[in-house]
This record gives sequence, structure tokens and C-alpha cells, in this order.
Amino acid sequence: MNCDLIAPHYWWIERLGMGRALERRRRWFLPEIENARRALALGDGDGRFLRELLRRNSVVRADYVDLSGRMLALARQKVGDERVGYKRADALTEEFPRDEYDLIATHFFFDCFGPDELKLLIGRVAAAARPGARWIVSEFRTPNIPAWLLVSALYLFFGIATGLKTRKLVDHRPILRSQGFRLIKASRSRGALVVSELWER
Ligand SMILES: C[S@@+](CC[C@H](N)C(=O)[O-])C[C@H]1O[C@@H](n2cnc3c(N)ncnc32)[C@H](O)[C@@H]1O
Repeated sequence: MNCDLIAPHYWWIERLGMGRALERRRRWFLPEIENARRALALGDGDGRFLRELLRRNSVVRADYVDLSGRMLALARQKVGDERVGYKRADALTEEFPRDEYDLIATHFFFDCFGPDELKLLIGRVAAAARPGARWIVSEFRTPNIPAWLLVSALYLFFGIATGLKTRKLVDHRPILRSQGFRLIKASRSRGALVVSELWER
């Protein structure tokens, strides 16, 4: 997947297609993570979540990891270097420090991976989480045919625009559970098409 081409347009394409629904999902659990000290923002794209996190939490230090150099540049432009380390890397192979983070954020990121990749990713990232760490997830769901059609259309778009190979959402919940995380809270909107989840280990 290469998001460089769509990086500067990502926000307005999202706004056109989904209004503010995804932005609301990303921000939903911010009040619950105001005590976080070390955060990992994975596949955070243009940095809109990271900017809000730092705005609401004056002590957190964050690591941002994304595969796209243009996404990274946009995030850095928005958020700045104070309290954030940026890395352009593949989250599937990146070596994360063990027991480091008390907050992990993955918004609309799990949908980039097939089942084996997602298992690998979550296992690697879980090893970087401290005991008691929180993990916030925003993701699509396909509870009905209209939602399934919309998500299929999104996969088609991302397949063409970024070369994304995945075509189907994988249920991340059993994988997070298998790594010792439990779902604390969840919130959904757009007829359950998009969800935010707060997990804790
Ligand atoms: C669908 S976008 C979501 C961006 C952002 N999290 C949001 O909520 O808008 C997926 C992001 O994940 C990044 N990405 C995809 N595969 C990746 C990987 N293997 N490692 C790191 N980043 C990856 C892409 O470059 C892109 O910025």
C-alpha cells in the first residue's frame, strides 16, 4: 500500500464521502486517555488524531509510525516535533521497544491487513504495550448489506489509488483478546458502520 499519492487529498475525500463520522470516531475516547504518558500512533496518516491527542494531553510523548513518507510529512507539519518521534516504517516489520507504551492508537488501520498480517501486527504491537496499557481502535464494520457495499467500494477505491491488496475486513476483536486485551467500551455510529473501541490489558 502506498498512500503518497492520496495523502494531501485524504481529508477532503473522507469528508466528502463520510462527513465528520470518522473524525468523531477518532476523537471519541480522547477524554479516557488523558493520563497516557507514552503513546504509539500506528498508521496515523496525516496526523489529525495525533494533533488532538497532544492538544488534550500536555504530558504524553508519542511515537508516530506510518509507511507513507507524504503522510508522515503532513503529520509532522501539523503536529510538530515537540513530544513526537516520527518514523517511516512498515509496522509489520518494525522493531518496537518492549513494554514501552501505555497507549496504542490504530484508527482505520486494521482494515489494511489480511488475517495473517493482522495477527502478526497485533502480536508484535502487544509486546510493546505495558501492563494496563490501553488500545484505542476505530474501524469499519459490515453489519448489513449497505455497509458491506460501502466498505467494498472503499476497498476498490483504495485498491486503485494505493495498491492495497486486502479486500475484506478482518475481525480484530478475537486477536486483541488473544493478546490479553479486553474491551472496556465501544461506541458506534452511522448504523454501526463505524465503531470506536477502548481496550485495556
Ligand atoms: C486508511 S489510512 C488511515 C490513516 C489514519 N489512521 C486515519 O484515521 O485517517 C491507513 C494508513 O496506514 C498506513 N499504513 C498502511 N500499511 C502500513 C504498514 N504496513 N505500516 C505502517 N503504516 C501503514 C498508510 O500509509 C496510511 O497512512
